[in-house]
Amino acid sequence: MKKPVIAIDGYSSTGKSSISKVIADKLGIVHLDTGALYRGITWFALQNCLNDNGSINLEGLFSSLGQIQLEFKNNDGELVLHLNHTDISKEIRSNEVSSNVSLIAKQKEVRDFLLHSQRSLAEKGGIIMDGRDIGTVVLPNADFKFFLTASIDERTKRRYNELLSLGIEAEEEQVKENLIIRDKIDSEREIAPLKQADDAIVIDNTNLTKKETIESILSHIKNF
Ligand code: DC
Repeated sequence: MKKPVIAIDGYSSTGKSSISKVIADKLGIVHLDTGALYRGITWFALQNCLNDNGSINLEGLFSSLGQIQLEFKNNDGELVLHLNHTDISKEIRSNEVSSNVSLIAKQKEVRDFLLHSQRSLAEKGGIIMDGRDIGTVVLPNADFKFFLTASIDERTKRRYNELLSLGIEAEEEQVKENLIIRDKIDSEREIAPLKQADDAIVIDNTNLTKKETIESILSHIKNF
């Protein structure tokens, strides 16, 4: 039986990745957190492509893209991102990466670099991919498309708690600011902006638990 291809897009900190992971386990399909890939490239740039003033040298990054190998490895059932064979799963959640990732994600060279591998992973079916442009650009023919949204205060609370659980220091106001700026850059960029696909099912999970959001998504997939 063919397994479904599912696209989950939406705003930052709506729980896309953790929800997708549970759904992938339940349906026995693969989960790809595409935001982690953009974060991985951002981490690489912060380590290797800086101007003297500390800003990211975009041209330097573009010419180094061929040196970047991003891979998810299974660590006790947890998929962790490796950059050129080094675990960077904690680094990609740092404030430094969060503050720079939207700048990197709006670059055509970076998006083109990641597009092909994202699409080829879905060719055989059986995948749930979460991001910003999955239903609109990466997998426009996905069997199911969902768009998650939630209030900014609720999303701030979730992201703040996630950072604390990772042992990363943060201030709630700063977390909120970062989410607002990122959503703005992601939604207004020219290439593959954050946008709801016309045929996506919208779920506002401000007042839903993670479990309820998962149930809502699964109720649409049941008849596949
Ligand atoms: O899902 P996340 O917060 O980890 O994503 C980090 C950034 O990557 C986000 O600000 C926008 C960008 N992104 C994107 O442009 N396209 C995707 N498919 C996934 C993420």
